[in-house]
Amino acid sequence: MQLSNLIKEMIANPSPIRQIMKMASRKNIINMGLDPDEVISYGGGWVGHHAPELLREKYVDIVGNKEKFHVAGGYSPTLGFDDAREAIAEMENYLFGSNVKEENVIIGQSSTQLTHDLFIALANDDDTIMLFDPTYANYPGQIKMALRNARITRLKVLDDETWQYKDDEQLSEEFKELYEAEKPKIVLFPSPDNPSSQVFGDAFVKTIYDVCYDNDTAMVIDYAYKTQVFGATPSYFSWSPDDKPNMIGIYSNSKWARGLGRRLGWVVASVDVIDAMERAQQGSILCPDSMHQMALVSYIKDAIKDGSMKEYIEETKKAYKKAADATIKAIDEYLGFPRLIPQGGLYTLMKVGEDGNEFVKRVLKNTGVLFIPGYGFGSTLKFGVRISYGPMVENIEKIEEGFRRVAEYLKK
Ligand SMILES: Cc1ncc(COP(=O)(O)O)c(C=O)c1O
Repeated sequence: MQLSNLIKEMIANPSPIRQIMKMASRKNIINMGLDPDEVISYGGGWVGHHAPELLREKYVDIVGNKEKFHVAGGYSPTLGFDDAREAIAEMENYLFGSNVKEENVIIGQSSTQLTHDLFIALANDDDTIMLFDPTYANYPGQIKMALRNARITRLKVLDDETWQYKDDEQLSEEFKELYEAEKPKIVLFPSPDNPSSQVFGDAFVKTIYDVCYDNDTAMVIDYAYKTQVFGATPSYFSWSPDDKPNMIGIYSNSKWARGLGRRLGWVVASVDVIDAMERAQQGSILCPDSMHQMALVSYIKDAIKDGSMKEYIEETKKAYKKAADATIKAIDEYLGFPRLIPQGGLYTLMKVGEDGNEFVKRVLKNTGVLFIPGYGFGSTLKFGVRISYGPMVENIEKIEEGFRRVAEYLKK
């Protein structure tokens, strides 16, 4: 069958994460002469903690009730159910002290889909999009898919010599310079970040916002890991569209309450952006999933009332902090490579002192331990790898073993 030129090009440039995950498939592991049950993976970009019991009960309630199940089988409005948009605004205000209103919320299938539709709603195919380096590896492909020939410009946020994130002052200066030279239509970044688990500082984000506001550019923060900050919450987490009309937040149901497969996400933005997204979403998914919205609304209402939402989020955060600490301790003890201290999220970045892709392949073949090569996240990570502790959060004792194995191999 004849395929489109776009997809042929995309197939010829597969995502480096998918490539390495394929290499670590059961079949390939056996072909390498390794036991697949002995593989230790630090590759997974997902969370391993359990969803709140109360949320699960809400699904049981829907499925166990003939009429509710019938309603769940109907279409939702394109923007999402009114009560779900209101509940999400309430949750945002409750958790972060912002002032989001129902009309600032559109619910979608996932943050991945919403990001795609945002590109379509905000930019043209001759525009420039600013990403950080490193950043979430899916963005460049998503930009290509949605905007074809749009240009991507990268702000280097990691100093790959010192293996430290640059400070707010340096980042702000370099951002202003790059902005001036490239005049992007959108500035997009996650905070906490994937792959680095760094949380960008107030002064830097305020600089980005002010420049974006003055030039009518969208500052889009991907908040996939917003509830997973280990230290103090930055003040921009409470910004609302009424005060900051050029700021857009993309939210995911995937990470905070282990909903990766129960696909749901939302965008918080000014009403004109929500209207544009409604039009874009009519063409992409028509409407978001009804059952997930119904369960979420009911959970949000009850879990705010009885205080269990904040308790759940606090407990979850503590568990990831413990997993992050165990990961850093094991890296320091066994490998001694430069690494970043996670400020939230699921990851750290380690500098391996050789081409990261070669290192990952070599280590996998010889030890059965899987890391993700850094180059897919940006050129600053050519000599780095991403390590995820997310999937092991409920089995922290397993974290150490992989590093011990790698150290033994490297010593040889
Ligand atoms: C920064 C970031 N954004 C978005 C996503 C995808 O989120 P969703 O499951 O809502 O599509 C991920 C998943 O790893 C991510 O790390």
